Amino acid sequence: MLTETEQKFVDFAGTFRTGEPDFDRNINLKLAHTLRVEALARRIAEAEGGRDEGRKRVAVRAALLHDLSRFEQFRRYRTFNDAESFDHGDRSARLIDELGFADDLSRQEHDAVVVAVRLHNKVAVPSGLPPEQDFPARIVRDADKIDIMPILIDHLKQPDNEAIVYGLRRTSELTPAVAAVLERHESPRYAELKTVADFVAAKLVWVYDLNFQTSKAIYRERRYLEQLLPFLPDGETVRRLYRDASAWVAGSGSPPEEA
Ligand SMILES: [Fe+2]
Repeated sequence: MLTETEQKFVDFAGTFRTGEPDFDRNINLKLAHTLRVEALARRIAEAEGGRDEGRKRVAVRAALLHDLSRFEQFRRYRTFNDAESFDHGDRSARLIDELGFADDLSRQEHDAVVVAVRLHNKVAVPSGLPPEQDFPARIVRDADKIDIMPILIDHLKQPDNEAIVYGLRRTSELTPAVAAVLERHESPRYAELKTVADFVAAKLVWVYDLNFQTSKAIYRERRYLEQLLPFLPDGETVRRLYRDASAWVAGSGSPPEEA
């Protein structure tokens, strides 16, 4: 049973279908992704949100709307690559008001939804946001990251899939500069990645961006790191990165930052 806003979202997405199977597949993929991210956000918010129903509501709404502009992006540019089209976080945030997707909320809740959506695809959540904006912004990012992993692992299982490793050398060697960034538990910039091994190993440090214990629990329960293992290059560095990442999602790494 969909909520009113969910139904409105599903109907909106439906207006982009053309009947052309390849095109509609992309629309349907984003729609399904959105609904999964919303469900994940609901779970994390329920577990982490205490008795503050308002901020849970904001987190769930922001998750539903985080990719609102993806349909338009694909129709206009035939790509989900922001560099070749527009910043889909910024555009989704603007669309919320154009389409009235948060008009039923209080001013404060509305603003928190817009901020979370705008920030979901940026490098990081800036420090110093008011708590009512910080909480949903971090939840949407966690939920989005969690949902991308199975898609990624699926792609890796198809060695001929060029889209995901486009232009990267198929060697099992880590580029030294990339290894150095990963050792600091930071994400290399996409342009720094030179090999498929770089690309896969870079997924290991994603865990340090998870903001909530519940997000780590979902990672564990879905065995994401274990599933990544067969695609990782062998070697001392990667073994250490894997061990650290596993300890982190198990909750025994260094203490998490206060969200
Ligand atoms: Fe997104």
